[in-house]
Amino acid sequence: MKTKGWLIYEAEHAKKNRAFIEWFLDEARELDIELDFILQTSISFGVRNNELAILLDGAQLMEAPDFVIMRNIDPLFNEQLECLGIPCFNSHLVSVICNDKAKTHQYLAGQGVPMLDTFFMTADELLTGNLPLPFPFVIKTRTGRGGGDVFMVEDSDQLQAVHAELSARSIILQPLAGSLGKDLRVYVLGTEIVGAVLRSNQTSFKANFTLGGQAEAYILNEWELTVVNKIIQQFDFGLVGIDFLFDENGCLLFNEIEDVVGCRTLCLTSDINIVKRYLEFILQKLATGETFT
Ligand SMILES: Nc1ncnc2c1ncn2[C@@H]1O[C@H](COP(=O)(O)OP(=O)(O)O)[C@@H](O)[C@H]1O
Ligand SMILES: [Mg+2]
Repeated sequence: MKTKGWLIYEAEHAKKNRAFIEWFLDEARELDIELDFILQTSISFGVRNNELAILLDGAQLMEAPDFVIMRNIDPLFNEQLECLGIPCFNSHLVSVICNDKAKTHQYLAGQGVPMLDTFFMTADELLTGNLPLPFPFVIKTRTGRGGGDVFMVEDSDQLQAVHAELSARSIILQPLAGSLGKDLRVYVLGTEIVGAVLRSNQTSFKANFTLGGQAEAYILNEWELTVVNKIIQQFDFGLVGIDFLFDENGCLLFNEIEDVVGCRTLCLTSDINIVKRYLEFILQKLATGETFT
């Protein structure tokens, strides 16, 4: 019997990633996998008749998938799949930790991974007069993506403005990294480093490619490999991007892990067939029974 999988997206994200989705469906065909593209909105899940249930377009599933590639952020759904014995990539634990910048720093603290001091608070607490860091610092929402919710704050006027924008949101506070407008994304599949991309921006302190940055291939040195491997050991990854800032000496500072990682810069800077490798990785996981459920 053919291996059957689901590729799940939310509608807006799917529109922007049509070529990537097509690429998944093509590679799956080549590998003899029956991969269905599914919008999260067509799924309902919860408990029905006292049993965990997943409905597709309102109907009970006739046949559960053998695996799910979750390209939407909804860790409760990843967990539901795992409770039902359906391997989900990435796992519920990766999704719950990595989509929260505070949880990620909390999880990796004390593991020998260099990172900036990071304080966890709500934006409302910014005006209590009890700031854990002196100006200038960086404020980000815990769940922001793409650089949109990242602010540099140099004085109390800017602090007021950010407070007005974020009000009750949960945030993190960090000092400025030593090198601005530059960061590194390391693509990881399972325990393997598949590639790294240096991203930079001459006009903003934010290096996000979607904000108009540049991207170039990057070769990790021995020390950098050791740092990345320390992070890999703490998780059971499917496909993720591990992102780093640089300090004033050009040394890596851990920044965040992208669970639903975009692969555009990897494709632009290498000829790695990341989709094929991801599907092969999943097949191998299923064959060896080494899944997170
Ligand atoms: N503490 C910091 N010091 C300097 N630059 C930072 C700092 N935090 C983030 N940045 C810059 O802002 C960009 C976006 O921040 P990031 O934490 O990656 O949030 P997002 O999830 O929105 O991408 C980073 O890629 C980096 O270039
Ligand atoms: Mg980022």
